[in-house]
This record gives sequence, C-alpha cells and structure tokens, in this order.
Amino acid sequence: MSEPVLPGDATLRSTALALDAADPLAHFRDRFYIDDDDVCYLDGNSLGRLPLETVSAVGEFMNDEWGAEAVDGWSHWIDEAASVGDILASAALGTEAGQTLVCDTTSVNLYQLVGAAIRANSDRKTIVVDAANFPTDRYIVQGLADTFGLTIVTLDTDGSGGPGSVSVEARDDLLTVAALEPILTDQVAVLTLQTVNYRSGARADMKAINDLARSRGIYVVWDCAHAIGSIELDFDATGVDLAVGCTYKYGNSGPGAPAWLFVRKSLQPVLNPPIQGWFAQKDQFAMGPVFEPTDTIRRFQIASPSIMGLRSVKMAFEMIGEAGISAIARKAELGTEYMIRLVDEWLVPLGFRLGTPREALQRGGHITIHHPNAKQIALAMRKVSKVIPDFRMPDGIRIALSPLPTSFVEMWDGLARTRDLVASGEYKNVTDEGNRVT
Ligand SMILES: Cc1ncc(COP(=O)(O)O)c(C=O)c1O
Repeated sequence: MSEPVLPGDATLRSTALALDAADPLAHFRDRFYIDDDDVCYLDGNSLGRLPLETVSAVGEFMNDEWGAEAVDGWSHWIDEAASVGDILASAALGTEAGQTLVCDTTSVNLYQLVGAAIRANSDRKTIVVDAANFPTDRYIVQGLADTFGLTIVTLDTDGSGGPGSVSVEARDDLLTVAALEPILTDQVAVLTLQTVNYRSGARADMKAINDLARSRGIYVVWDCAHAIGSIELDFDATGVDLAVGCTYKYGNSGPGAPAWLFVRKSLQPVLNPPIQGWFAQKDQFAMGPVFEPTDTIRRFQIASPSIMGLRSVKMAFEMIGEAGISAIARKAELGTEYMIRLVDEWLVPLGFRLGTPREALQRGGHITIHHPNAKQIALAMRKVSKVIPDFRMPDGIRIALSPLPTSFVEMWDGLARTRDLVASGEYKNVTDEGNRVT
C-alpha cells in the first residue's frame, strides 16, 4: 500500500469539500443521529455516534421479542454471542466464523484470555506488558500475576515505570520487534499489547510480533479496542491467536455495549479461562455437578449475554460489513493524513507537536497532538468552539475520524476552529469545572 495522496491545498476549505465529494463512504453520515451539524465530533475513537437503524432494531427487539415472547425468546437468543461474533469477525477481523464471541467487557475478556494463556504455559513465570498499554490491561495483568505467582516485566517506553520496568526505546509508543527480541525469553508465558495505542495512535506490527512470540512458545493477547473498525485487522494474515476489543468506539455500538473476544479454533480445546461459567459447559442445561467445558468458542463465554446490547452490535457491524473494512481503512489513512497536514500547517506554529507516526500503516484512526496547555485547550475546544476531542494525560489531545460518520469538512472546521482558539488565546478564559471524565 502506498501512502495516501491529498489533492490540492489542504488548508483550503474547498479541498475538504472536494474530498467529501469524492468519498465513497460519505453517504453513510446520513445514517447516523447528528444532533447539531455544526458540532465537529472528533471523538469517535472514544464513543462512536448512534446509527439510526440501531434505534429501530433495539425497539423492535423490545416489542416483538422480549415483549411478545418473554422467556420463550431464549430458545433463539441463547447463541447470539457467537452469531453476532461471526458478523463482527466477518466485517472487521478478517477471519473465519466460530472463533469470536461478543460478550462482557474488554477488561473481563482480557482477564479470561490472559488467564487462559497463563494456565496453558504454567511452567513459565513471566508476563510482559507495555507501560503504554491502556490502564485496565496493566491492572488486570497485575491481579493475574498475584493470583498465579508470576513476575511482571513492564516495557517502559515512556519513563512512567510499572512493575519490573525495563527501559525500551519506542518513538511515539511504537514498539519494534528488535526492542522486544531480548525480552521475550523462554520464561515468558504471555505478552499483551495494544494493536493501536490508545494514546499516540501508533499501530504495532502484529505479524512480526506474533511470529517472534510464536517461535518462542509465547502467547500474545492483542487489545484491539482502538483498532477495530478503523484498520484492516486481517487476523488470518497477521497470525493472531488471541484478541479482545470493544465495540463502542469505531464500532458505533453504544456506551458500554458488549465487547468481543477471539480465540483461534486450534486453541479452543486446549485453553482454559480462569472464570468457568455455566455458558461454557458442554451440556449446559443438564446442570451437572462438575464443570465439563465444550471444545468450541462457547468455552470462553461466562454467562447470559445482553441481547439488547448484542442487537446494537449486530446493527453497527452489519453497517461496517456493508461499507467494507478496506474502504473504511483507506478513509482512516487519508483522513489522518489530512489532519496531520493541517496540524503541520496551522498548529505546529502555535506550539503543538504531533505525537503519532507519520506513516499511514503505523497508525490507526486517530492522531494525538501535544501542547503544554493541552487540558485547557481540549476543554475550550468543547465549550467555545463546538469541537469534541478528548484529553489524555499528561499533555495529549486526541482527534479522530470515524470513517462512516465523519466528513472531511468536519475535520477541516474542527482544526480551523482549534487554530483560531489557540491563536487568539481565548482558551485561557475557560475554567475547568472538575469533570471526572476527560
Ligand atoms: C485500549 C483499551 N482497552 C481497554 C479499554 C477498556 O474497555 P472496557 O471498559 O470495555 O473494559 C479501553 C477503553 O477505552 C481501551 O481504550
């Protein structure tokens, strides 16, 4: 794949209009609930917008199924974690059916898969995490290491430390195979990394890392929360065996919608997750005295799925399937290229620094810009300029395009308003009211 090419002068609004006119996905914007067209919503990497069809799908489920059928509905709801998992896998993971469940949260699913990998590699006593992993991933690993008596090695890419920290070179959080090479010894049971880093947006080379880890008998559990729905994951080509992710970011499935987990078919009979719930039991309704798990993907399901949540995941991932993940990924590459160009032209002269790799295949759907006053600027973007980004410690503002609803004009307007806000110094008048969520 070559780097995306932008036509004309990126700083002209007419270029954004031309990009929208040529965008094969532009019409999908009309299928989302957009309350105020003047808002530049550049936070789809945190929470995706609401697809209009989800409102009717969930409403129909309530009336026609829960309302009309009550408990009888379970006869056809019972396997929906797996059937919606197949829809999600076909739309966004690049792999076969029978290996994905939509269930629980990313955190619970990570616990299940890292725990299963530890149990399978029980003669090894080390677990490797990245200091730049999303906090929940690092905290869950700390709990698992305590439970199973493992030592943690934290790849300290940014000086923030962590249990067993080892200093590792990584520009913009982009880990290389060369940096991992000496750390992945024969004592390592499992390594867990993010496909797209939640802070910088850097994208790991999953194939190279999987190949190295596999050659040393190490399981890799990928957290794809920031990747799914913005890049081609291609699990078969990249050799992913174990992965988790959410559905509420580029997946547009709603706040707290069920997450997903992926276990490659060949590993399903040999891995044993630490939480052994009744949905994993081979003969589930025999209600027997001893846990005897099935050999299928259901072995990784703990309990009753949220059918309402599953319906919104189904609707959103059918839309992703309809658009095509390769078209979505191309738009993310072009859109991030466009935003980087505008940052270089407008924001770097105002004291910002780009914190995301410049090569399209080394990033996902968001970029991060740093500024000493980032927290106050991010707040003012929201309050004064009607631009929605998010802020991440210590000085990062993340701005994303969500390929289905976000337009190029929205990106242009958002960055032009940010430029004006900072150039005028107006952001300094905004006070932080102490919102717990940034
Ligand atoms: C990379 C990553 N992993 C995990 C999580 C946590 O997900 P959950 O709250 O669904 O467990 C998030 C949340 O934003 C995330 O960005």
